[in-house]
Order: sequence, then C-alpha cells, then structure tokens
Amino acid sequence: MTTKHDGATRTDNKRLLSWVDDMIKLCQPDRIYWCDGSQEEYDRLCDEMVESGVFIRLNPDKRPNSFLARSHPSDVARVEERTFICSQREEDAGPTNNWMAPREMKKKLVEAFEGCMHGRTMYVIPFSMGPLGSPIAHIGVEITDSPYVVVNQRIMTRMGQAALNALGTFGEFVPCLHSVGAPLQPGEQDETWPCEGNIDNKYIAHFPETREIWSYGSGYGGNALLGKKCLALRIASVMARDEGWLAEHMLILGAESPEGKKSYVCAAFPSACGKTNFAMMIPPKSLSGWKITTIGDDIAWIKPNAKDGKFYAINPESGFFGVAPGTNAESNPNALDSLKENCIFTNCALTDDGDVWWEGLTEEPPEHLIDWKGNDWYPGSGVPAAHPNSRFTAPAEQCPAIDPNWEDPNGVPISAFLFGGRVSRHFPLVFQSFNWEHGVYMAASMGSEATAAAIGQAAMRRDPMAMLPFCGYNMAEYWKHWLHIGRQHVSTPPPIFRVNWFRRDEHGRFIWPGFGENMRVLKWIIDRVVGNAHGVESPLGWVPTYDELNLEGLEFSKEDYYAIVNIDREVARQEANDQEELFTRFGDHLPRVMELEREQLIFRLFHSPRVWDLSSVSHPHD
Ligand code: OXD
Ligand code: MN
Repeated sequence: MTTKHDGATRTDNKRLLSWVDDMIKLCQPDRIYWCDGSQEEYDRLCDEMVESGVFIRLNPDKRPNSFLARSHPSDVARVEERTFICSQREEDAGPTNNWMAPREMKKKLVEAFEGCMHGRTMYVIPFSMGPLGSPIAHIGVEITDSPYVVVNQRIMTRMGQAALNALGTFGEFVPCLHSVGAPLQPGEQDETWPCEGNIDNKYIAHFPETREIWSYGSGYGGNALLGKKCLALRIASVMARDEGWLAEHMLILGAESPEGKKSYVCAAFPSACGKTNFAMMIPPKSLSGWKITTIGDDIAWIKPNAKDGKFYAINPESGFFGVAPGTNAESNPNALDSLKENCIFTNCALTDDGDVWWEGLTEEPPEHLIDWKGNDWYPGSGVPAAHPNSRFTAPAEQCPAIDPNWEDPNGVPISAFLFGGRVSRHFPLVFQSFNWEHGVYMAASMGSEATAAAIGQAAMRRDPMAMLPFCGYNMAEYWKHWLHIGRQHVSTPPPIFRVNWFRRDEHGRFIWPGFGENMRVLKWIIDRVVGNAHGVESPLGWVPTYDELNLEGLEFSKEDYYAIVNIDREVARQEANDQEELFTRFGDHLPRVMELEREQLIFRLFHSPRVWDLSSVSHPHD
C-alpha cells in the first residue's frame, strides 16, 4: 500500500514509489514534495530561502538571479573521515577506505534517520547523471530535507520530471537518501544552515553491492549533492568495474588545432589542483590558433566503444561546483564569465554593493566586506573573507568555452589521459609513459602535496589516479580494472601522460607559469599523440626536448627548462622506494604488474644511459 503523495501522478515506477514510501515512514517529514525541475520551481524555492534567511539575493544589476549562502562554520567541506564504503567484506572496500559492515551501518543510520525530518519538507529529486537518455547516463533519486540541495542539484544535474520520464516504469535508479540531521520541534526556530553539529554523528555511507547512498548530518557540497562524488564516482566506479567502463575524477577538454583538428583529453588531478582552470584555459598569444573547449571540469564517465575500439567520455554533471578563491580574470576568465548570473555562491564574502568576493578575485581587496561567517571584515583583519573552500555553483552552459558536443549522448573520443599532482620538487613538468601498464603504474603511484606549505616540508599524500577519496572499492582491484580495460576493450589504448605544474625553485617560487601557459604542454602531448614529436627517453618516460615545447613569447630559458624537466636519480629512486609502502598495503590484491613496473623503474634509474640528462643533450640523436 503506498502513501498518498503527488509523486504517484508523476511516475509509475513501483520500486521508486515504494522506496519513497519507506523513507517517508522512516524520516517522518511534515510535507513531501516531488521536484519537477522547472524554472518556476527553482525561483520559488530560492525566494523561500531568501525569505527564511538561508539565501541572500545578490544585487540583480551586478549578479542577476544569483544568491549567497553561508554554511554553519562546522560544515564547510567533504568529511572524508566520516565517509564509508559498506561492502559485505572489509577487503572489498580495501585499505584506503573507511569500512563498516552494511548491517551495522544500516542499524546506525536507521536510528539516525528515524524522525529526522520532523518539521521539514522531504524533497524528492529525480536526476540524470549524463545527458538524458544517453546510453552512458544513469538515473539517481535523491531524497533530502534541504531546499539548498534541491536548487544546487538543478544546476549540477538534469533534474526533475524529465529524469522521471527517462527512468520509465521499470528503469533502475540509485537511491540517495540525505538529511541535514536537524529535526525541528513544533514551534522551534530553524537555523539558516541546519546540520548535525557533532562530526561523529555524520555519515556519508555507500553500499556498493546494493548501490545505495545514505548521507546524514551535513548540508555541504559532496556530502549533500549526492549525484557528484557519491554517485558519479564512488558508486559509479563499482558499476564501471562490473560493466566494463571507467568512472573517473577527471576533467574533459577539447583542443582544436589551427588546422581545425579536434582532440579530446581526460585529465585527473587531486582536489584543488586547478582542474577547472585547466578545463577552460585560454591559450597564450603565440598559440592563439589553438582553441580549448570544455566538456567537464571534475568527473568523466568513459566507455569503450566496440565499433571503433576507442574510449568515449561524457561529463555526468551539468554544472560546475568550483572552488572560488583564486579564480580571477588571469587564472580563469572563462570561469568568471560563467558566473555572471544564475549562480549560487556558498561561503564567499559579500561586498557592500551586494556582490560576492573571494581571496584572489581582485589584487586589492575591497575596503569592507561581510565575511563568510557574517562578520564585518577589513583588509588586515587577519582572517580570510571567503572560506578557502568557498564554492560557486554555475550552469555549465554559461561557460563561454563550453564544447558544442558537451551534451552528445555518445560522448567524445578520448586521445590521451593526463595525471597530475602537486609536487614541488624533483618531478618533471611532463612525460609520457612507455605503454599502458607503465602509465597505469605511474597514475597509481601518483602523489600530491597536501598543502602548498614551505618547500620541502610538504607531506606527500598518495592519491592514486586522484581517486583516493572517491574509489568505491578496493583500490588495487581498481588498478586491475584499469590494466584490463586498456588491453581488452580498446584497440589501442590512449597514451598516458604525467604532468606537474607545481615544481618550485630553491627560493620556493613556481618555475612554470601555469594556467593558460599549460597549453604549451598540452600541445606537446597532442603532438606526441599524432606523431609530431620525438621526445627524449628518460627513466620515467618520454620527455619533450627544449625545442619541441613551444615557448614562444615566454621568457623561459634552456636553464629554466632543464630545471623543470630534470630528474634527480637519487630522489626518483627514493620516491620509487617509498611507493612500496602504498603497494604492500594491498597484499594479494596488488596486481603483479605494479610491483614489476616499480622494480623496472628503479632498475632504469640505476642503469639507463645519461642521454636523457637534458642538461647536456637536447635531443637523443644529437
Ligand atoms: C571537488 C573535490 O569538490 O574534488 O571536486 O573535492
Ligand atoms: Mn573533484
């Protein structure tokens, strides 16, 4: 017997209706609302949130139809320590995930969710990750008690009745249950950002075998917008393993050459390493014949195509949930243009004329701001005006660089994979792996410095494929899946490159200018893909010669260049030795190839000729 609510008129998917009924009984909301995804609905919810103080409407002359939200100071980021993969067996979650047995976790969650929506509205949000009806797309349904989540989901996903229509009567969906975890007693005044205050009572729980997500206690970002990290990465990585595809923490961009030839690449970088900037970069003047177009800035779903033996990728999202600080007219003009209207800002600072500001937006900060905590702020206040993890939520279609094929349901063909971390010392600007297995090893062993702290002091955090917080199963099995998929399903797998924009000199300054100048590196990568560049063989892989990298218009001497591609054998060996610690954690799950590649690298570092020492040679055949 189903409870009466208007969803019954919107879908006849029995599994969905009975799940919603069960969740109503569990969460006991005062009202139930099925989201249709219309503009009218979005506007109404935003108005209601302005009314209740959750949203501040920004100055319509400066930032039309845009809003600022301030979160509770305890709820400002993803909570990895409270993120769980609840597979039946602990080893299926692997040593890099938090694990709890599904039965035990469900017991805790049922207790937490029981009555958690008292005094609130339960919103039912059907959404599609990926273009509606795409063979690569998947449907999720999020139940939440947060209207903030609803309006963000409308930007980040294809949400509402259209997703229900795509689901149909018998379609499969991923149930995503979310609550901020703050039931209201009758007459109790609500907070502007309700959430569970005790971190130990927050849970971001994934059930890979039953493909369910239960998230309790946080209203922020990836904890609450469950289509993103929870579905499109953690659950999707499990689906991808089972079904023979890849769900990756990767941007997708198109690079069009002056001759009009388009290549698409996928690139994985850990969080806060500039994926959004790279995905929308504007090439420097000397490469102005090149054009970069954006498909996505955070997640790629990649499927091998049996017909032509290539990988095809879609962006499962339809918006950007980007880190605001550091975004400016220099670092990312396309992102700034995407933010002109119809956006939601979270934890940014508010200007006196009703606009938003964050560190790095302008060289000089305004003379007065209201900071992300709602306090008066003046330059020299000694605290950041915007939270370092403050965010914008922007519709992807507003990006001037958006690729004309970004919603192609079949995806775009991928020519290369790039992997990059933040490594301040001793790691070259770019190199190409020798083959697929070597590339997978290089991606698996990648690391990134946790902070841009003092040179040499920064702790290296291993972040295989930039998926450490996002892989929904045993990471070593995930490597096996990568090894397998490149060899079994694709005629010639795309070449794999490692990049590093973050090398510093002895004074701690970045050697490489980065941002749009990264186009120079990307051009070499594409030259390699199409066979226009030789490179030099180094123990790590193929490195460009000084002459091959287009450095026109950039003051970048040969010495600078050697400083940024040179490999210190001793340090590289130390680094390869350190990887053992990561690999041994996986025991029998570790693919033998990984250990073999590591040993071969150590061997090459001992024995390969010095020809690759670019300080003496600019080309192997010179
Ligand atoms: C993100 C992240 O928000 O990776 O994209 O943390
Ligand atoms: Mn990300």
